Amino acid sequence: MTPHVAAMDDLGVIVAVTAGLGLLVAALGIAVMWWLRTRSIGVMLAVVVVVAVVATLAGVVAITMRMIIEGPARNIVLSVVAVGGLVGLGVAFVLARRVVGESRRLVAAVGELPFVAPRKLPAELQTIANTLEEAYARERALEGARRELVAWVSHDLRTPLAGMRAMAEALEDGVVTDRETVSRYHGQIKLEVERLSAMVDDLFELSRIHAGALRLSRARVGLSDVVADTLAGAEPLARAKGVLLTAEATAAVPVEADAGALSRALANLVINAIKHTPSDGSVVLRARVDQGMACVSVSDCCGGIPEEDLPRVFDVAFRGEAARTPTADGGAGLGLAIAQGIVEAHDGMIGVVNDGPGCRFEIRLPLVDAPR
Ligand SMILES: Nc1ncnc2c1ncn2[C@@H]1O[C@H](COP(=O)(O)OP(=O)(O)O)[C@@H](O)[C@H]1O
Ligand SMILES: [Mg+2]
Repeated sequence: MTPHVAAMDDLGVIVAVTAGLGLLVAALGIAVMWWLRTRSIGVMLAVVVVVAVVATLAGVVAITMRMIIEGPARNIVLSVVAVGGLVGLGVAFVLARRVVGESRRLVAAVGELPFVAPRKLPAELQTIANTLEEAYARERALEGARRELVAWVSHDLRTPLAGMRAMAEALEDGVVTDRETVSRYHGQIKLEVERLSAMVDDLFELSRIHAGALRLSRARVGLSDVVADTLAGAEPLARAKGVLLTAEATAAVPVEADAGALSRALANLVINAIKHTPSDGSVVLRARVDQGMACVSVSDCCGGIPEEDLPRVFDVAFRGEAARTPTADGGAGLGLAIAQGIVEAHDGMIGVVNDGPGCRFEIRLPLVDAPR
């Protein structure tokens, strides 16, 4: 028996019928997938294969019903489609096993700390693993820094507190009575209280920065105005130490910034510069436009920061000398971390280089176009 050979108009009908049925099966398949959307990828792959096979079979059956092909030819076509479907299911099964196995490998790796991303995963899983690895590493570094900070700060708080308690007890017990010592103790206690308060303020500020809760009210300001404010604020400290503090601003240098916060960041740099510059030395602030950025720098005469310390000065609680004994004017090593946090919240950058008789700290901010 010879099968009917599809003529051209038959071919049009075949395409139309199979396409229609295919769309119907595809819609059903998508509905099933939606229903199974939280199941294993293996189940979804099986659905894909089943949809492909059913769509083909439906087409073949529809065509046989139009008697275009019949008898052995029809059986041959049906068995070929069925076998193809089985092969597809087999491949889907193997693939699903691999995907499921690899995702189990990923889950097992996540359970282990420190997390190391497994290699040779399928692309999407590899991306997830790499992203996770980075996030874990960042979290670990932050956690370490936090723990160090707590340890150092509690040490820094305890030492002056112990001194204050000793002085207060001596005053209370009448151990010191001569007026000069009594007033020295009172002055000392007041100084320590001020220092501790400033430290607690800094800690609070830093924790807000780290929590991303720094609220900036940004407006267009001239960097030279911020420089002038900072200069006025630091002038008494410079005069007391005999350091010459000056500013050079070529133009207004407009930036979009929270003037208070930016002034605080700059003040931290200036106070450091004055602290590390010997008397008769000078500290210079410069505001200018450089390579399309608003740029403000603080140059001092500190004699240079050791090369190995340069990348670490902005770290929380970093204070240079290995011995961490608090000195009279010693800070907690938070000033530069705060300055960095403020500058980065302004989409800016902060850096330091050794330059001439000392070092130069520099803040760079996006420049706002000058008004026309
Ligand atoms: N202008 C500077 N010249 C030399 N060293 C500096 C200067 N500014 C900062 N440093 C170094 O960086 C450290 C961290 O500074 P900072 O975060 O302000 O903390 P703190 O002032 O409380 O020590 C300082 O202890 C000092 O070692
Ligand atoms: Mg400081």
